[in-house]
Amino acid sequence: MDTQPRLIASIADLRSNLCAARKAGKRIGLVPTMGALHEGHLSLVRQSQAQCDVTVVSIYVNPSQFGPREDLAKYPRTLKSDVEALAEQCADIVFVPSDNEMYPAGYGTWVEPGSVAQPLEGQCRSGHFRGVATVVLKLFEIVRPDAAYFGQKDFQQALVIRSMVRDLNMPVEIVVCPIVREPDGLALSSRNRYLSPAARRRALVLWSSLQQAEMLVAQGERSAEKIVAKMRDTILTAADARIDYIALVDPETLKPVLDLTGRTLAALAVTIENTRLIDNCLLEPPK
Ligand code: PAF
Repeated sequence: MDTQPRLIASIADLRSNLCAARKAGKRIGLVPTMGALHEGHLSLVRQSQAQCDVTVVSIYVNPSQFGPREDLAKYPRTLKSDVEALAEQCADIVFVPSDNEMYPAGYGTWVEPGSVAQPLEGQCRSGHFRGVATVVLKLFEIVRPDAAYFGQKDFQQALVIRSMVRDLNMPVEIVVCPIVREPDGLALSSRNRYLSPAARRRALVLWSSLQQAEMLVAQGERSAEKIVAKMRDTILTAADARIDYIALVDPETLKPVLDLTGRTLAALAVTIENTRLIDNCLLEPPK
């Protein structure tokens, strides 16, 4: 049975709505999103509901995490269908602040994330994690959740947020949930909808190259250079693929790994038909 979530746009209203729940000792879960919801987001909502008494989903396309040449203007905004999907999941509150509510005139405070924000996405998207960390810290201050839910697809983002929470002693548990994939392996992303059917088929090279890395490791290959070279060949079977990075890194520090002796993150960012896609998996060389 669907229950309409409360749709709240103002910070003051949200705070007063959560006040009674907090006083009653209820556990509050936050799922921060930029909308255009898919099964990946909904899996976070379900996880929050399983662990919390009240689930707040924020929908806010945060301008400060987009670079000047990125897709802020065309980022999909699908509030009606998002709210319908959240009603089906029985989410309690949907927080939909305006830009003015989040960044009023005169706004001037920013979070400068640490070293895990530098490589990979940080290298390709200057200022991106500063915008993400700032808006997530603001959402944490506004909602004051006991737990907040993020997807492993944005592995580096989750790490940046974990580091921020640790460094700033924030009393919130960060829960990272597994990547949700289409049956053919494509990781769900709000940006997949930009892909034409043919480009969507080509985009499967991301998943194929990650599977190839897993297979090579299972066969005993330990050289990062060799694994990356094979992954690159696979990606480049898609004629228009532009590779930003294919990286094998330590999952805690994101520093490059040369020989795979322990758990290693394989992460990649590839543009297919003008759509930039990211994906990753953890490689576990057997002991
Ligand atoms: O992952 C996202 O959708 C965004 O980066 C987030 C965490 C909602 C911050 O705007």
